[in-house]
Amino acid sequence: MKKILLLGANSQLGTDIQYIFSFYPQYELIIVYRKDLDIEKDDIYQFLKQIDFDVLINCTSYHKTDECEDFPLRSLIVNGIAVRKMAMLCNLHNKLLIHFSTDYVFDGKKNQPYVENDSTNPLNMYGVSKLTGEHFIKSLHDKFFIFRVSSLFGLAGPIEKGNNFIETVIQLGKQGKKLNLINDQVMSPTYTLEIAIAVIKFIDQNIDEYGIYHCSGEGECSWYEFAEEIFELLYMNVVLIPVPYTSNQTKAQRPLYSALDNTKLKNFYQMKHWRDSLSDYLIRRGHFNE
Ligand SMILES: NC(=O)c1ccc[n+]([C@@H]2O[C@H](COP(=O)([O-])OP(=O)(O)OC[C@H]3O[C@@H](n4cnc5c(N)ncnc54)[C@H](OP(=O)(O)O)[C@@H]3O)[C@@H](O)[C@H]2O)c1
Repeated sequence: MKKILLLGANSQLGTDIQYIFSFYPQYELIIVYRKDLDIEKDDIYQFLKQIDFDVLINCTSYHKTDECEDFPLRSLIVNGIAVRKMAMLCNLHNKLLIHFSTDYVFDGKKNQPYVENDSTNPLNMYGVSKLTGEHFIKSLHDKFFIFRVSSLFGLAGPIEKGNNFIETVIQLGKQGKKLNLINDQVMSPTYTLEIAIAVIKFIDQNIDEYGIYHCSGEGECSWYEFAEEIFELLYMNVVLIPVPYTSNQTKAQRPLYSALDNTKLKNFYQMKHWRDSLSDYLIRRGHFNE
């Protein structure tokens, strides 16, 4: 029986990976939380050495984007140095490493979806630290998949950030608030369940075309358009005011355009359009029963 070790098991993505694996009893999923291994403080190498596994899936991340600007060392340790240790161990024991990176490795100056070998140029510390993690994996190990994902939404909700964008706008909409929404920052919203399905396909089909894959919801939209679709699907009448990115002062700069091109991934898995995933999410979350 193949053994899959899942770090960051309670993350938004890790929760859906656990859910998908429940349909694949042929795999043994070994679940690890921060209380078992703190990748910032504990000896990762020592911890991993004691566990017998075939595939390491790393869902841990420090991705409070604005906070990373204040704590650059922490972001480099969690998103870079810790990942380096994982890559070294996986290389030594010839294990498959599955890791997740971000659309924030790009600067957003392109106006069509980014492909895997487009030049990277992160605008913020979070992006720098995630790119560092990518570099370590690429330089230390051959047997890896790095899935670059973007703007996640999942049933678990981001553990560290509180509610996700969808829940936040629905709550505000129900309170009758007018919502200011950025209409000139474009991305590909991505459902964590879809990423989890892609991951299991890669493992189950023994795919050995290792490397980086863009893995985001098909299509692209601004945050304004995303909210518009949420309220349209829920038949909610909410006043939305389009505002420019520059109206929202944040510590970390974000790319204005970061849609990802999934063509390479399509050889193995076709991601759903973000609109279809959004409907699925709203159904699973019970929003149509309220
Ligand atoms: N969310 C997004 O919009 C987005 C966009 C692009 C890329 N990504 C990438 O996608 C992946 C999954 O993101 P997500 O939103 O599912 O993450 P998430 O829900 O925020 O969860 C982060 C996970 O990392 C764990 N973690 C953080 N610091 C740790 C430490 N020092 N030791 C052990 N565990 C630690 C957390 O554990 P605790 O719960 O115990 O803190 C949690 O399980 C990440 O690689 C992220 O960079 C996310």
